[in-house]
Amino acid sequence: MSYTNILTEVHGKVGLVTLNRPKQLNALSDALIDELGTALAAFDADDTIGCMVLTGNDKAFAAGADIGAMSQWGFVDVYRNDYITRNWETIRRVRKPIIAAVRGFALGGGCELAMMCDMIFAADTARFGQPEVKLGVLPGAGGTQRLPRAVGKAKAMDMCLTARMIDASEAERAGLVARVVPADRCVAEALEAAATISSYSLPTVLMIKESINRAFESPLNEGLLFERRLFHATFATSDQKEGMSAFLEKRLPSFTNR
Ligand code: HXC
Repeated sequence: MSYTNILTEVHGKVGLVTLNRPKQLNALSDALIDELGTALAAFDADDTIGCMVLTGNDKAFAAGADIGAMSQWGFVDVYRNDYITRNWETIRRVRKPIIAAVRGFALGGGCELAMMCDMIFAADTARFGQPEVKLGVLPGAGGTQRLPRAVGKAKAMDMCLTARMIDASEAERAGLVARVVPADRCVAEALEAAATISSYSLPTVLMIKESINRAFESPLNEGLLFERRLFHATFATSDQKEGMSAFLEKRLPSFTNR
């Protein structure tokens, strides 16, 4: 499959997607998001892949949705085309973990895209922001929903209402990012973490992702019940037998994803 707006590579059991509209700071056109959804869905369906990394370039992960494309659209255009829902939501349906490796700007839809991933590794050059208010719109791909869940109401209000950008260390203190790393190590560290995840039992990894995401969709009791049932389900897998036997036999496990 060849793409125009993204690049894809395979590193062992890890699928790497690089957003590739550098002249527009990776502005997220519909064509780019269509290709991104196709690439992530293909990696998700590929039994040789265990985890994915999504990145941009040194200057920008992505500076937002494509303002040039959006500027002349009317309500009926975006409503009839189901803008955002039609293609951005593909990313939510990916079951394998996705790590966003963010260098430079992650603004507007770029910050929202990073938050759609399962965790963010931020380069020390990363800048996160929701500047839509300056354009007369609001975050439309989850910014007002995922950001407060990650950083709390106060900082989400500050970022969305004033358009203030935060740097990597503030993002880490606030809980938006999992790790801050030197810019030249950002993708490498994400690939290493993704390789580690890919070395584990895939069904177990999928269950962990699903269960953590359930924490944001349900009351504690329901979430705990969901977790407990999935935990019980792991006892039906060969990988649970293998993982525990390997520990007791003081050897590395050999998971078969069954
Ligand atoms: C289209 C964009 C763009 C964007 C940058 N460019 N961001 N084009 N959509 N979101 C283009 C610029 O027009 C310019 O093109 C080129 O990329 C380089 O950008 P500069 O502004 O010259 O770079 P710099 O001075 O370094 O400033 C970087 C920046 C600034 C601070 C990131 O580009 C900026 O503020 N961009 C817009 C950020 C933003 O508002 N994002 C939210 C978008 S709305 P030319 O042709 O002049 O070289 C949104 C909605 C989300 O995301 C909800 C739905 C998903």
